[in-house]
Amino acid sequence: MRARPSEVVLTSGGTESDNLAVIGTYRARRRADDRRRRVLVSSIEHHAVLDATEALAAHEGAEAVLLPVDRTGRLDVAALEAEIARDPASVALVSVMWANNEVGTLQPVDDVVRLAHAHGVPVHTDAVQAVGQVPVDFAASGVDLLTVTAHKLGGPVGVGALVAVRGAELEPLVHGGGQERGVRSGTLDAASARAFAVAAEPGRRVAARPRRPGARAARPAAGRRPGGGARGGAWWARRSTPRCGCPAT
Ligand SMILES: Cc1ncc(COP(=O)(O)O)c(C=O)c1O
Repeated sequence: MRARPSEVVLTSGGTESDNLAVIGTYRARRRADDRRRRVLVSSIEHHAVLDATEALAAHEGAEAVLLPVDRTGRLDVAALEAEIARDPASVALVSVMWANNEVGTLQPVDDVVRLAHAHGVPVHTDAVQAVGQVPVDFAASGVDLLTVTAHKLGGPVGVGALVAVRGAELEPLVHGGGQERGVRSGTLDAASARAFAVAAEPGRRVAARPRRPGARAARPAAGRRPGGGARGGAWWARRSTPRCGCPAT
C-alpha cells in the first residue's frame, strides 16, 4: 500500500479505524477552530462512518452532510465541490470510501482529495473493501487517513489499521499508555498484527470461500439506508433494519 511503518496505527479493525478517523479528526479540527463543524460523507458509507457521524451530530454539535451518489453508487463530485465551496472554513473533514461494500463501486478518490485539499480539508477513505481487490497506493492517493481491516484479506478478525499521514490532526479515542503514536493506546496484540501483516503481503490474499452448492446468494436486507440524495437529516432515524444485519461483511 506504500505506507510508511510510522503511518500505520493498528486498531481492532475497520470499525474502530473509521471511528478514530471521523471522530478523532472532527474533535482535533474543531478544537483548533470552532467553526469546523461540518462532516461531509458520502451517503453510501459503511455504518462505521455513518454512525460515527451521526454520533457527532447528536452529541457534539456537528452538522452531518450526506453527499449524493448516482445510480451506480458513484459520488456526485459536483455536489461535493458545491458543499465545500459553500463555506470551506466550516468543513472538519471529508470521508468517502474507496470501494463500496454493497455494490463495489469505486469512488473518485483523486477528485475528493483535489477538492478538499484545495481548502486544507483532510480526507479519510474507508478502503476496507478495496485493499486486496484493486491497487491501493496510500502515498500516491494523497488521502490523509485510510481504513483497512485484516479479515477482508484472509487475515484474522479483530485487527486492522488506520493509516494516517504523520501530520494528521487526530485526537485519540482510547487513552492510556501512548502506544500507536499516542492515538490508540493499549498493549498491542502482536500475534494478530503479525497475521495481518502476512495476509497483507502482495499475492497472499486468500480467495473467498466458494459457496456451498445450492446455497442461495446473500441478498441485501430491505429498507437499508437510502442510496443518495439525503443530506444533513436524520437518515439513521429512518433506518428500519437492525445494524447487525450488514449484508456485506
Ligand atoms: C466498507 C467497510 N468498512 C468497515 C467495515 C468494518 O470492518 P470490521 O469488520 O473490521 O470492523 C466493513 C466490514 O465489512 C466494511 O465493509
